[in-house]
Amino acid sequence: MTVNINANNQADSTNPTRIRIFDTTLRDGEQSPGASLEPQQKIVIARQLAKLGIDVIEPGFPISSPGDFAAVQQISRELHHVEIAGFARAVKVDIDAAVKATQEAAKRRLHLFISSSDIHLDFQLRKSREQVVQIAREMVAYGKQFVDEIEFSAMDASRSGREFVIEMVEAVIAEGATIINLPDTLGYAMPEEYGEMFRVVRQQARGGDKVSYSAHCHNDLGLAVANSLAAIRAGATQIEVTVNGIGERAGNCSLEELVMAIETRKSAIGAETGIVTGEIYETSRMVSRAMHFPIAFNKPIVGRNAFQHESGIHQDGLLKNRSTYEIMDPDAMGIPRDMIVLGKHSGRHAIKHRLNEYGVKLDDAQLNEVYDQFIAKAEELKLVPDNVLISLASETTEQQ
Ligand code: KIV
Ligand code: ZN
Repeated sequence: MTVNINANNQADSTNPTRIRIFDTTLRDGEQSPGASLEPQQKIVIARQLAKLGIDVIEPGFPISSPGDFAAVQQISRELHHVEIAGFARAVKVDIDAAVKATQEAAKRRLHLFISSSDIHLDFQLRKSREQVVQIAREMVAYGKQFVDEIEFSAMDASRSGREFVIEMVEAVIAEGATIINLPDTLGYAMPEEYGEMFRVVRQQARGGDKVSYSAHCHNDLGLAVANSLAAIRAGATQIEVTVNGIGERAGNCSLEELVMAIETRKSAIGAETGIVTGEIYETSRMVSRAMHFPIAFNKPIVGRNAFQHESGIHQDGLLKNRSTYEIMDPDAMGIPRDMIVLGKHSGRHAIKHRLNEYGVKLDDAQLNEVYDQFIAKAEELKLVPDNVLISLASETTEQQ
């Protein structure tokens, strides 16, 4: 896939680039402490990811356990409209397991990785740069015998020497890698640096214009979404994400945040995705429940407070025109209306409006009475669910 780049080497906002969304909730996301899943749970989540319109699903790490192998195999068998990624270290046993687990997929790729940073080479792999490039080269060639589409990840690319990343990328492209992923494994990069790495590699690596590029960002400094957007502006056409941003440490680039940033600021970013945004909320809750991973109240898009407007001034503005204080329509993400709960800063106008939505009509005197009771309840409960508000209103109207 080619990205539309203008003369300044930036994504072109008048001709949006289709960004492929690669979901690794079931592989990198599952590496969150305490978030492990049974194979059957993975299958159920993968079905929902397909419904959400994900382009590529990485359902696990086939060599890591029989359960993961079985889940990847079953998902490959079942989900024929989604590409399945078989994840493997750059070693033959991993590649064999990934190739076998994805055998029955209608569309598949092999996702191979090896580190490129000196710190990983010196302390973890204990190998020289020459040895690592040689392994990368040999393992891509080995995988290519079985699978056409090979994604190669230079782990810790953002903390690696630029010339060395280019050397490694050239070597794997020469052996047939088709997608180059440059991960910010430790969430260390700044958006300008991360984007720059993609520009330089695309321009300077031999064969670099014949492959597509992927970004994989961790959120240690809260920059995973910003860095992924910077990569898009620099020509990446695939972004790796997890639902609710789960993953090692502070997690990965959050699917819902990235997709809604692209959706909401389409012309500023110059990109679009194939995500069915109306499935975002359901997917988020499903993953949160299955992984016992609560969602922070203030998490963008899917957090309880993301569309909560406590202050009377905001609520009043919203009732006049929603765009006064909302940049996205919660309905577009499938967020249920009763998620938006009233609280002690809500004004009479908001309470009247909410009761009207349930067909409850109050005159001014009744509204004043319900309002006083509502405020007392809000002091006690903080947020007043709709059913409590309705019972306050019916007690008032029955008494009169
Ligand atoms: O964070 C990372 O570098 C990864 C790669 C192995 C893709 O998860
Ligand atoms: Zn990762």
